[in-house]
Amino acid sequence: MRKFVITTVAVAGVALMALSGCSSRGGDTTASGSASGFKKGSVIGVALPDKTSENWVLAGKLFEDGLAAAGYKADVQYAPATNTVPEQQNQITSMTTKGAKVIIIGAKDGSQLGSQVSAAHSSGATVIAYDRLILNTKDVDYYVAYDNEKVGELQGQALLDGMKARYPSAKTYNIELFSGSSDDANAPVFFNGAMKILQPKIDDGTLKVVSGQTDIKQTATAGWLAQNAQTRMDTLLAGNYASTELNGVLSPNDTLARAIITSIKAAGKATPVLPVVTGQDSEAESVKSIMAGEQYSTINKDTRALVKHSIQMVEDLAKGSKPATNSTDYNNGVKVVPTYLLPPVLVTKQNAAESYANDPTLSPLTK
Ligand code: BGC
Repeated sequence: MRKFVITTVAVAGVALMALSGCSSRGGDTTASGSASGFKKGSVIGVALPDKTSENWVLAGKLFEDGLAAAGYKADVQYAPATNTVPEQQNQITSMTTKGAKVIIIGAKDGSQLGSQVSAAHSSGATVIAYDRLILNTKDVDYYVAYDNEKVGELQGQALLDGMKARYPSAKTYNIELFSGSSDDANAPVFFNGAMKILQPKIDDGTLKVVSGQTDIKQTATAGWLAQNAQTRMDTLLAGNYASTELNGVLSPNDTLARAIITSIKAAGKATPVLPVVTGQDSEAESVKSIMAGEQYSTINKDTRALVKHSIQMVEDLAKGSKPATNSTDYNNGVKVVPTYLLPPVLVTKQNAAESYANDPTLSPLTK
């Protein structure tokens, strides 16, 4: 079993326990829920977080359409921008009250849904964590996601490869690190995956984090908000790069990557070449930026495939069968959650056309 490696990066206790994959309490991979199946026409709840990234917006629409086409009553809700966590908790409770047979949850804060998923589970609903793991509860039955540790590894490697290509004569590189929102269980998974690749290069002097900010608490971007990343980048540039060249920035997703690039340009640090900035999500604006030679990379985590797989899990459960799982890597602090992982793909200008060939929205942007 591949274990999550906790590097020197300090991770909040809960997340560390949850994601280390080596909890002494782990081992229970039993999923329960609707063992006897359920009928077409049943309510299926889908509780999604805020709309800070395009993938969440797309997922909502695909769940509405896909579940309806499969013959279920879809109840798709988003956590609103204000009062987010309590609102998502209320939405899950309301889905339970409506008798939802499956509740699919993209958690706003994966550590704050314990009582709601417990009530859902007791009422006979199967709880599926979607994209983000739900922590510290035995009542999450399945987890379906792209391999998020791999996402981080691909981002770390892309940063190295991109800088090698953009600065062919350099032997060492100056970089800065960004991570996601600390209430998102995925944020440390991405960051630790990237640091698996980057830390040895920091240790041997190939990479220098000029600000010295390498701890996940220092690199975090509250709420995954672009403005927060832009402000932090402004501060980092003003304080550390007055007469120093910046070569690369680890950005955990596309929304933040574009904010970081905006900051770099405003600070006059985009010439003679723009530093290498990584990303994730294949957002249209970032694909355009990659094709224009600005943002270096993104990750293709095709939302269509993830939603399709989630709906397949609903269909399996409806028949009374256990959905297929392919990973025991995810311990949520209480149990190993039976998981189905899809493979993420790194995308740069070189392979964009090929990567998005079957995507009617993104493919035209690569021509
Ligand atoms: C998702 C990313 C997304 C981020 C911000 C993460 O949990 O896995 O794809 O960029 O949330 O919405």
